[in-house]
Amino acid sequence: MKVLLVNGSPHAKGSTYTALHEMEKIFKENGIETELMHVGKEAVRGCIACGSCRKTGKCAFDDSVNAAAKVFEECDGIVVGSPVYYASANATLVAFLDRLFYSSGFDKTMKVGACVVSARRGGLSATFDELNKYFTISGMPVASSQYWNSIHGNNAREAVQDGEGMQIMRTLARNMTFLMKSIALGREAYGLPEKEERVGTNFIR
Ligand SMILES: Cc1cc2nc3c(=O)[nH]c(=O)nc-3n(C[C@H](O)[C@H](O)[C@H](O)COP(=O)(O)O)c2cc1C
Repeated sequence: MKVLLVNGSPHAKGSTYTALHEMEKIFKENGIETELMHVGKEAVRGCIACGSCRKTGKCAFDDSVNAAAKVFEECDGIVVGSPVYYASANATLVAFLDRLFYSSGFDKTMKVGACVVSARRGGLSATFDELNKYFTISGMPVASSQYWNSIHGNNAREAVQDGEGMQIMRTLARNMTFLMKSIALGREAYGLPEKEERVGTNFIR
């Protein structure tokens, strides 16, 4: 079993990383392989709605988005980490996720998703809600913890002092592990849920 962790922060070892790393330790303890991708310092452009991915199943801009898609396809779950910028996910990460989720052609049904957010003070739950939407439009169950998955601190040194935040990350990783293992058993026993031909209704008269 494998989980992809995406660090959207420009800081490779900041508070967002501190939260993700706390989860990584629990995944490893439970025999789950991890791969951490740090995308927050890259020049990730936004989606230009060219539609090329509809034909090719990958993004026309062949950068870390396509690299992440390949790893994501092989994974049982994904954890997305973001610092809060103006009560939202940071722009680089949003550009990355828009393109990753829109362009990748593989079925994400029953891959488990979780997001973690870090901030100095405010905007955490708004960012948490924003990020969960990528999973809940993709047939992905969302792992949860004992509180909304957030950690306080302007940097790694401060983040580790948020004892509750650090515990939330450990609980989240344990719950996510349980969910991924349960889904693997369920898939074997019952198969994935039946899928209808997709109905796309762009407007209602
Ligand atoms: C452009 C910008 C906007 C920010 N906006 C917020 C904010 O709305 N609320 C907040 O509490 N912190 C805000 N911060 C602080 C970061 O969320 C905080 O330092 C975060 O923990 C950084 O995570 P990192 O170390 O992983 O980069 C902002 C920082 C930057 C650079």
